[in-house]
Amino acid sequence: MGRRRGITLALGGLALAALLWPPAASAAGVPVFAPVSGRASDILHLFIYVIVLSLIVFFGTEAALFYFVFRFRDRGNQEGEPEQIAGNRRLEMIWTAVPAIMLISVFVWVVVAMRQIGAPPAGGDPLTVEVIGHQWWWEYRYPDQGVVTANELHIPTGETIHMKITSADVIHDFWAPQLGRKMDMIPGQINEFYLHADQPGTYDGTCAEYCGAQHAWMRIRVIAQTPAQFNAWVAQQRQQAPPPPAGDAARGEQDFLTGEGNCASCHTIAGTDAKGTVGPDLTHVGSRETLASGVLTNTPANMRNWLTDPQAVKPDNRMPNPQLTNQEVIDIAAYLEGLK
Ligand code: CUA
Repeated sequence: MGRRRGITLALGGLALAALLWPPAASAAGVPVFAPVSGRASDILHLFIYVIVLSLIVFFGTEAALFYFVFRFRDRGNQEGEPEQIAGNRRLEMIWTAVPAIMLISVFVWVVVAMRQIGAPPAGGDPLTVEVIGHQWWWEYRYPDQGVVTANELHIPTGETIHMKITSADVIHDFWAPQLGRKMDMIPGQINEFYLHADQPGTYDGTCAEYCGAQHAWMRIRVIAQTPAQFNAWVAQQRQQAPPPPAGDAARGEQDFLTGEGNCASCHTIAGTDAKGTVGPDLTHVGSRETLASGVLTNTPANMRNWLTDPQAVKPDNRMPNPQLTNQEVIDIAAYLEGLK
């Protein structure tokens, strides 16, 4: 019996280690475990507390279960039959009080953490960014700066950003785990929260509410820059598109504005007659790191692929195939890539 119990315990221990090893080993690479703001740290601490409590309860219960199953298993005779007890006030008080204390502690921690995470920043008007979720891309508006962009959210480090989020179609959900909380974006309603980055860097996130075929390709990219870099970015984004140089790009502009592809009916390029609002604002599309909400890195070749057949690159996305000729693809790509 002693040997079998030893083997069982060893196997149980191995199973436990196998269960815990991968998350422990890879935790450092998971965004929720690498917060870069006080608000995200508050969320992580609460998360760890709840996980540890849950693990204690789970493994404590399982250990007791296995112990009793083996200790009092049927041996074919009366040997090992446990003493039969009806009622034990002390035990019952303990197993009522301990879970109650655990739940109360979680409740108190949640209330305190929510107050900290939701508190407006001390002093002054924070920078406001309006976020509008679309199937399947992100529109970012900086009302006080007069900037409109898509898919890449630029923020200054050390500043708390007031996020006002909504949706143009179905429910989406904004979540950049290293920077702050996660929140639904609901059509016809504005939800608000605060975002903060202590250090410059590119922080990934994703739409966290299933919103249709390309939900998985609704990636968030938050680019946190020093205040000086951010101000330079704002100054650049406020400018209108300069006239393109003669050649491919100039032909591309004409194709974009008046060609068969009807680009201008869905997209805006400030400083031109393109004023469509269905798709992303392209005034500075050449300055972005990715295309199609993170599907492609922004290179001239990828821009040409996208223009040739957007449905092949991101199936079911809302941009129809513009049916461009090879020359038009080359010209329009040259024009758009020049919009820095
Ligand atoms: Cu938008 Cu999922």
